[in-house]
Amino acid sequence: MTHPATEIPTTFDLTQTDGLLRTTKAVSRRLDLTRDVPTELILDCIRIASAAPIGGNREANRWLVVKDPVKRQQLAQLYQEVGNPYLAALRAKAEPGSRQARVIEAGQYIADHLAEVPALVLPIRLGVVGEGVFNAQSLYGSVVPAVWSFQLAARSRGLGTRYTTYLATRAREVAELLGIPEEVTQVALLPVAYYTGERFSPAPRRDPAEITYLDSWENPVG
Ligand SMILES: Cc1cc2nc3c(=O)[nH]c(=O)nc-3n(C[C@H](O)[C@H](O)[C@H](O)COP(=O)(O)O)c2cc1C
Repeated sequence: MTHPATEIPTTFDLTQTDGLLRTTKAVSRRLDLTRDVPTELILDCIRIASAAPIGGNREANRWLVVKDPVKRQQLAQLYQEVGNPYLAALRAKAEPGSRQARVIEAGQYIADHLAEVPALVLPIRLGVVGEGVFNAQSLYGSVVPAVWSFQLAARSRGLGTRYTTYLATRAREVAELLGIPEEVTQVALLPVAYYTGERFSPAPRRDPAEITYLDSWENPVG
């Protein structure tokens, strides 16, 4: 359900909005693999996501929602072919018990269970980098904000998501599998499922003063 413009508040409860922004995270083990995600709910998220900024007022974002179990299995196999060796290489270098080690195991969980995730959502942009006026900044800049809005809208509706890009190197096979035409960019694949539990802790990130400069690169704020 989305709300008519008249119902949208003019001031925002920062506890709610900051909480949503700070705790919308890459979900893995907490995806409920047993519960279907209604397509209508995904459409609600896409409706919200479509309000994100787009370059040149060009509404060229498309969303491919994969719920068919056979296709999910085929996508999962391609995903594992890329992800498993990559994760194994990362694991070999990770300090046991570190955050990096946990991130790797969360990634492995997704690779192992991708076929069981009830909906796999592929945001797609018409056009490819290098064609006409499309540089990488304008192409990805027109779709990634919408993808993040989708993830926020999903989270507010009890759905967990994860931004994944391993399949980018297998885009041709994905295109064949799903009938995606040429001259479009597959931006990501988002596993989407209801999440279990209630709370997410904020992602640990560096202090803004450490990563911000004022007037000159030589003048870090922190
Ligand atoms: C551009 C991008 C690509 C990513 N690709 C993958 C991926 O292919 N597979 C995966 O499991 N996670 C992927 N992730 C999720 C990150 O691994 C995740 O953000 C990381 O586990 C840290 O979690 P956090 O963002 O909740 O702090 C990607 C995230 C981003 C932003």
